[in-house]
Amino acid sequence: MGAQAPKTINYMDSNNFISKSLRQEHLKKISGLRYEDEEKYELQSEIRNLLKKNNASLIAHYYTDPSIQDLALDTNGCVADSLDMAKFGAITESDTLVVCGVKFMGETAKILSPKKTVLMPTLEATCSLDLGCKVEDLQLLKDQHPDRKVIVYANTSAEVKSIADWVVTSSIALDVMDRLVSEGKKFIWAPDKHLGNYIQKETGADMIIWEGSCVVHEEFKLEGIMNLKYLHSDALILAHPECPDKVLNISDFVGSTSQILNFAKKTDNLKFIIATDAGIFHQLTLQNPNKEFFQAPTSGKGATCISCAYCPWMGMNDLFKLRDTLVNKNNEISLEENILDKAQKSVKRMIDFV
Ligand code: 13P
Ligand code: SF4
Repeated sequence: MGAQAPKTINYMDSNNFISKSLRQEHLKKISGLRYEDEEKYELQSEIRNLLKKNNASLIAHYYTDPSIQDLALDTNGCVADSLDMAKFGAITESDTLVVCGVKFMGETAKILSPKKTVLMPTLEATCSLDLGCKVEDLQLLKDQHPDRKVIVYANTSAEVKSIADWVVTSSIALDVMDRLVSEGKKFIWAPDKHLGNYIQKETGADMIIWEGSCVVHEEFKLEGIMNLKYLHSDALILAHPECPDKVLNISDFVGSTSQILNFAKKTDNLKFIIATDAGIFHQLTLQNPNKEFFQAPTSGKGATCISCAYCPWMGMNDLFKLRDTLVNKNNEISLEENILDKAQKSVKRMIDFV
């Protein structure tokens, strides 16, 4: 069994990270009144033209606004999980990548394609895992354990990636760790404790695990899901590995966003309970019109961000900001050269592993 890390940071209460104004903006957006239909089509058409004019590709995550996902697919961009977003950015021939997601995704695109211009609709869209893992704190832990390899989740800053041996996303974490465990290595894992505990359980790795979590997935709880399962006993439970272990233990399938989508598509089952951000329902329902999907309930208090399964930072991406970014060429990702070079080594290890 691996040792548990000393508590280097406080328990991740989402209220520490999500400001009142962000919460209000978020609640307005998830009420479904983001744009009138006509306004949406006009914005989409304007963005389509701007993408063409700037030889730019739109790269969106499954948790973003459905109208952005539709546009990305419509313009030969991509909608994907964080690993495939990174890979697409590196292989596309476009000079400019417009990344709709959270900041670490834009930074990863820049790390892999330093010569391309990487824009984002907003640079304020971050992630509780990234916020909860400061490079100085991780460096301290690393200094205390020079015999351990440092493996970090992609949901971290470029600075954190620059001091890591490996970067992994949820879709590849188990495969990479299986390989490293077979080579007799010991690890520091940061920052998601639930994914870390899941990997430790599955691979038997000797890991010191950081005390971070995702504000969205942290809120899925066993009791609520079991109540829903009681109502739909024939539904399979599909969960993202950022969920707490009690949820993962009762799940029929655990995987990244892309892996959840693939599983839902290939299995014959017709009903599913989904324990991940509700943004994924757009592709789930488009790809499986004959199947039923139920959102796993959260334990958050009413009228707060944690009462719904929507990431408040992913929700900051909208068509207005996307259009403005392409018009003004602002919100560009830029990274210090030495940080980029070091981070590139650990990110490339992951890409080359695939
Ligand atoms: P995926 O790599 O599975 O898309 O996950 C990214 C993420 O931020 C999940 O909350
Ligand atoms: Fe980060 Fe969670 Fe949002 Fe994913 S859903 S970007 S892990 S806060």
